[in-house]
Amino acid sequence: MEILTVRNLGKIYKGMVHYEALRNINLTINQGEFVGIMGPSGSGKTTLLNMISTIDRPTSGEIRIGRDDPYQLSHKKLAIFRRRELGFVFQSFNLLSTLTVKENIVLPLTLDGVDLNEMNRRVNLFAEKLGISSILNKRTYEISGGQAQRTAIARALINQPKLLLADEPTGNLDSKAARDVMGILEKLNKEEKTTMMLVTHDPVAASYCNRVVFIKDGKLDNEIECGNNRSDFYQKIIEKLSLIGGNENESSPIRHT
Ligand SMILES: Nc1ncnc2c1ncn2[C@@H]1O[C@H](COP(=O)(O)OP(=O)(O)OP(=O)(O)O)[C@@H](O)[C@H]1O
Ligand SMILES: [Mg+2]
Repeated sequence: MEILTVRNLGKIYKGMVHYEALRNINLTINQGEFVGIMGPSGSGKTTLLNMISTIDRPTSGEIRIGRDDPYQLSHKKLAIFRRRELGFVFQSFNLLSTLTVKENIVLPLTLDGVDLNEMNRRVNLFAEKLGISSILNKRTYEISGGQAQRTAIARALINQPKLLLADEPTGNLDSKAARDVMGILEKLNKEEKTTMMLVTHDPVAASYCNRVVFIKDGKLDNEIECGNNRSDFYQKIIEKLSLIGGNENESSPIRHT
């Protein structure tokens, strides 16, 4: 079953100078897939994610999530749609610092008026899966980056969304914490069959996906599938990146944005 369908998607940023950030993007993600999006800085990865997550509007083309075209929904329905059907994880965690870990996680449920017992049941379940049960009552400034990102993932998944969208979820983590977070996403994808789409610069993070799609200059360039060997997949990702220039760890120590 198709969870995400992107058809002939285009985005032009209008300003003093118009900039065509995406052109004619076609992409389908099926139920249960775990898809990575890679490409050089400025190639349009975040733009694509923002169109899919309905943060920003496409200039042309169409997006379907399940059966819905989010851009046809009213303002109010769209807010509910985003909360119930989509999960978001960002590089900068985006947790509320005045709240505890638990309060952050249950936020989407509070907004939906879910009752307290059900809320507690779900928090405990996800906290267990993410290895953060012992820090539920801490404030977000008392926890590590890896714990903060796992908290953000719990918050994103607590509503059991159709699609989890992540932009550089390991971008602010050291390599150990990054591997832990990716391992958890991989496990959740397998066990919960959560469909996931993640933008990343990191070939190690991308190698946890089932499929990696490469973008260059706002166009889809190529895609590769994992097969049964992760280290072969990692090698293939590195090779592709060196062809399209997306591996900034290798080509340049400075990230240009
Ligand atoms: N709000 C905006 N207005 C105008 N141009 C924009 C805007 N956002 C992005 N762009 C331009 O669109 C292009 C794609 O940007 P985008 O943020 O999607 O790249 P990216 O692939 O996510 O890059 P990075 O890897 O650095 O995060 C870039 O050239 C960028 O300068
Ligand atoms: Mg980006």
